Amino acid sequence: MRKPVVMGNWKLNGTKDSVKELVTAFVKVAGDNKKVDVAVCAPAIFIGQVESLAQGSDLKYGSEDVDVHTKGAFTGENSPAMIKEFGATYAIVGHSERRQYHKESNECVAEKFKAAQENGLIPVLCIGESEAEYDEGKTLEVCQAELKAIIDLCGIEAFKNAIIAYEPIWAIGTGKTATPEIAQNVHEGIRNYLKSFNAEVADGVRILYGGSCNAKTAPELFAQKDIDGGLIGGASLKVPDFTAIIEAATANA
Ligand code: 13P
Repeated sequence: MRKPVVMGNWKLNGTKDSVKELVTAFVKVAGDNKKVDVAVCAPAIFIGQVESLAQGSDLKYGSEDVDVHTKGAFTGENSPAMIKEFGATYAIVGHSERRQYHKESNECVAEKFKAAQENGLIPVLCIGESEAEYDEGKTLEVCQAELKAIIDLCGIEAFKNAIIAYEPIWAIGTGKTATPEIAQNVHEGIRNYLKSFNAEVADGVRILYGGSCNAKTAPELFAQKDIDGGLIGGASLKVPDFTAIIEAATANA
């Protein structure tokens, strides 16, 4: 039985005040909930503040990206060791916004995945197709190529200690949530692909859905057998919405 995860991705949002408000509320929600892993991924500059507010609580947290290097002349980057030092559990890698705006290739994402794991962070690997690729029926092909880059570099066993987030790019921030049927089919396809390498790893890995997942759409999405929770953008910035999404995951735990 896979334990659901509900994880916020704040993206480029937040102030010291909003971080305080959100983390204080989510610490309480996470503390009251033993059935779901609750986490937030914050802009790197706020991770120290999240650490102070979440210390000793059940709320886990992480970064939205990570560099492949441990240290050195890489101006502006944050190493996985630095993020780990602030008590983080997770690092998102390969978010479509990084792939699109920062030209991160599948190979670059795989290097980040590896660096995160080597430094004790659990990578949250984002995969998913564009609208054009969806229209051309290439969804699984795209997802498989994104997964294969990780398998080639790290081996299938690496997914024993990682989370996958399927995020169709056309659903992110658009309000066009994938239907539960579409999402379930892709999640099943992802799991079947991993099964062709190692059935035990495929059965154990948690695959989250992301893309306009909100209080309304979460219950039916989370009821699907291969959807193990959500990676939540906009709705993770609002206490009542994120709390309702966690409740939806709890009902299906
Ligand atoms: P939205 O929930 O705002 O669509 O964002 C999803 C996402 O990109 C999470 O990583």
